[in-house]
Amino acid sequence: MTALTSIRLSEDKIEIINQLLLPHTTEWLEIDTVEQAHDAIKTMKIRGAPAIASLAALTFSQHLSRALRAAPPPAFLSSPTELQGHVTPILDFLYTSRPTAVNLGNATRRLTRTLQAGLDAGKDAREIAEALVKDGKEVAEEDVGRNREMAKWGGEWLIEEVKKAGGDGQNLNVLTVCNTGSLATSGYGTALGLITYLHETGKLDRAYYAQTAPYHQGSRLTALELKTLKIPSTMIVDTMIGSLFQHHKIHGIAVGADRIARNGDTANKIGTYQAAVLAARHKIPFIVVAPITTVDVDIVDGSSIPIEHRPPLEATLVRGALYPPSVDAQGNKAQAVVQITPDDLDGIYNPSFDVTPAELITAIVTEKGVAVKGGDGRFDLAGVV
Ligand code: MRU
Repeated sequence: MTALTSIRLSEDKIEIINQLLLPHTTEWLEIDTVEQAHDAIKTMKIRGAPAIASLAALTFSQHLSRALRAAPPPAFLSSPTELQGHVTPILDFLYTSRPTAVNLGNATRRLTRTLQAGLDAGKDAREIAEALVKDGKEVAEEDVGRNREMAKWGGEWLIEEVKKAGGDGQNLNVLTVCNTGSLATSGYGTALGLITYLHETGKLDRAYYAQTAPYHQGSRLTALELKTLKIPSTMIVDTMIGSLFQHHKIHGIAVGADRIARNGDTANKIGTYQAAVLAARHKIPFIVVAPITTVDVDIVDGSSIPIEHRPPLEATLVRGALYPPSVDAQGNKAQAVVQITPDDLDGIYNPSFDVTPAELITAIVTEKGVAVKGGDGRFDLAGVV
């Protein structure tokens, strides 16, 4: 089976799958400019921390690669200082598209460092631009391999944990929230990668996933990925997590992360914190799976993580296909956006992320390995970053 993908590259063309229309309509959108990339990220046509960083880096790379081929070359390639004056505002602009996920900031900082290294080494503008083009592409390429590594680390760790608790490490049931699969990354996924790994190694009984209102990344995107991968799965409504833990054997909860503070506090999709509180009550291992680049060592704890609040209107709307379905010649279902509240509500609270305190997290998995808390009850992330 072919896994879904968020970004499609061909020759000089970058396309993204419009995640606002999935799972009912497959629409590929060409992203031709930095402004279009910014808009696609901001409006969540593409989402998921690694995927937005990849799109930003690829679009930046494409912009410079076109400039290098242009005849006559643009003025900003005439000197390193001109180049710096041109690209710095572009990187700053891309960084403003969504504030919580650190991956985007990491990508723009990495490109800024490459720029600075070129300037310090006395390279000419074309050489620096070439290095930036290469670096931008690498941001996207590096994502897939590391996802497989962390999925394996996390999957094997959970199997051992279940065995330590007296189980046989077989037929595991794992809950996830939001979407952390190939639509959110450059491939395979983080928390969903862990679930996929357990399935591929014959250790998974069933994946459970929360719908994840108000954007429904669970019921729209994770549902589609699990169906595509033929992984046995069950959807739950976000309010059913406690009931699920009371009535079903769940061996682990695996979630992704948008930013992990130095002490392990983790920002992830809204609803993650309540899943962690319930997991602690039911003594279920709560696992955060994310690339090293998600750990923000500059941030001491979760209180300093910037939390994006989405427009209030978005929490009053639900998008989906008409029911009963009306299907076009390409098999796409007609869609609608429906308002589920009275007009002009007095107040709407709509944070896109919450912070799960480190004390509620059992393990943090990166491509380097698994971090658990020491005897002092604190994470030492030095070994996994
Ligand atoms: O608002 P979104 O859909 O971009 O939020 C996505 C998440 O919270 C994911 O869990 C996180 O970015 C990790 S994706 C591998």
